[in-house]
Amino acid sequence: MSRTTPASSRRTALLSACTVLVAAAGMAAVLPTGAQAASLGCSVNYQTNDWGSGFTATVTVSNAGTSAIDGWALTYDYSGNQQLSSGWNGAWSQSGRTVTVKNLDWNRTIAPGGSVSPGGQFTYSGTNTAPTAFAVNGTACTGPGAPSPTGSPSPSPTTTPPPSGGKADNPFAGAKLYVNPEWKAKAAAEPGGSAVANTSTSVWLDRIAAINGVDGGMGVRAHLDEALRQAGGQPLAINFVIYDLPGRDCSALASNGELGPTELDRYKSQFIDPIATIFADPKYASLRITTVVEIDSLPNLVTNSGGRPTATPACDTMKANGNYVNGVGYALSKFGPISNVYNYIDVGHHGWLGWDDNFGATADLLAQAAQASGSKLEYVTGFISNTANYGALKEPYYSIDDSVNGTSVRQSKWVDWNRYVDELSYAQAFRSRLVTAGFSPGIGMVIDTSRNGWGGAARPSGPAAKTSVDAYVNGSRTDRRIHLGNWCNQAGAGLGERPKAAPEPGIDAYLWVKPPGESDGASSAIPNNEGKGFDRMCDPTYTGNVRNGNSMSGALGNAPLAGHWFSAQFQELLKNADPAL
Ligand code: GLC
Repeated sequence: MSRTTPASSRRTALLSACTVLVAAAGMAAVLPTGAQAASLGCSVNYQTNDWGSGFTATVTVSNAGTSAIDGWALTYDYSGNQQLSSGWNGAWSQSGRTVTVKNLDWNRTIAPGGSVSPGGQFTYSGTNTAPTAFAVNGTACTGPGAPSPTGSPSPSPTTTPPPSGGKADNPFAGAKLYVNPEWKAKAAAEPGGSAVANTSTSVWLDRIAAINGVDGGMGVRAHLDEALRQAGGQPLAINFVIYDLPGRDCSALASNGELGPTELDRYKSQFIDPIATIFADPKYASLRITTVVEIDSLPNLVTNSGGRPTATPACDTMKANGNYVNGVGYALSKFGPISNVYNYIDVGHHGWLGWDDNFGATADLLAQAAQASGSKLEYVTGFISNTANYGALKEPYYSIDDSVNGTSVRQSKWVDWNRYVDELSYAQAFRSRLVTAGFSPGIGMVIDTSRNGWGGAARPSGPAAKTSVDAYVNGSRTDRRIHLGNWCNQAGAGLGERPKAAPEPGIDAYLWVKPPGESDGASSAIPNNEGKGFDRMCDPTYTGNVRNGNSMSGALGNAPLAGHWFSAQFQELLKNADPAL
């Protein structure tokens, strides 16, 4: 089966379904009754992801009857000027306000209990009112927002109600975002920090002790209790970074962890199982609990093992023993079945996996891990890029398609044959490739925008002159790192986009995952009991290695251990915020 899904395709707001009974000559609509009153029937679920001037819509047609639907044509009308640009998983067309979607060969038959999910992308201006009526094969189905036959109120089509019997497509849409009181207190104590102290940041579970709280700090239950309080009965999303794999951080030293390479059993029983037990507590069922599952691990197996110049013995070990793949699979298998938990897996960032030989191989490995240890692809809601990294969200002054005197910017020293120059284009493209790898077309991406702002005095104000590809790229790029491979406490970085749901097609949210002000690693060796090593990429005097083109590290000096508060960095991030504070 071959189908293509535009990078822009997304679905978002979940609307409840209506049950449609089939009359002798076709289908007629009734309200959901919970009873299978007829042998044939369908339900329609219309979901959108709207960015103000356009949107994607996914219309899921389910066969709620007992006979197969063989061949289908879905029709519905818009009330505004919504205009179809493209569609997938069906043959889409539009005539006036009427949209028609016909089956393709491969999804012609909808088995009883089965469904099809055609999606389309639209432009519009003014108000994007959801359609109120749907028809399948010419007979009306009552869509969400339409008056119901019994006169009971219909669900609002504009926001995501709490999932009933299924998960929200985008858990961040229509939800408040959790403010971590511990980070808030540190940010608020900084000069100027109150400007951002109420921003949502993620909670990192970076060791077994974090489950109950490190040194008297908040544990998972304390955060969830506080999340319930902040929710005040409204939808709220709280994001946890699950970060304690055996042999953690195999290509670097700064965030090595407490578990040795072989301690998979301990990871399962002492880390994942207890977290899953808490997440599944019915007390927290009203929260949308999102997870970022084990950053850096799977990409490291692709790029830093197997005889590549960048390989490390530790990554070779983790590839050979399978504990990254099995650990990630196990975490997904425990969290996935919990109805209010949403898993996101790490996809590195464009400056890591944006080359052809890394990109597809990583997507395929992610699909493998998502089916390891009893996990299923459907346990994955989406993926996250740029976690704790500095890649610019959008490069406004040059693009990957530019060339200078016939030479592509891909040949510049900075781009170095990468396919992407920023995180948004990378994440959208990766989303499509993950669908090709077998993940649901409904997956969404998250981008960590905590420290990729690149504002401040050094920010270019427009494209540079096209004298050479290097001059053009270096003068135009807002990412001011010395080398794209630099990752530790970068000088010149600023806070990025504030956390926000559904900001762009294919993107579930921008989040501040790495809490701004928490160090990436110590700039000199510091004895500790956290398992953390000293990585010279955090040393400002280091002249680099093969992973950063033997460039200077670009790191700020006097940095504390990874995860510890680094006031000077926080101040730098405030100063260079983009958008400005
Ligand atoms: C690093 C640290 C970890 C910390 C995280 C967030 O990955 O190793 O301990 O929780 O950053 O700051």
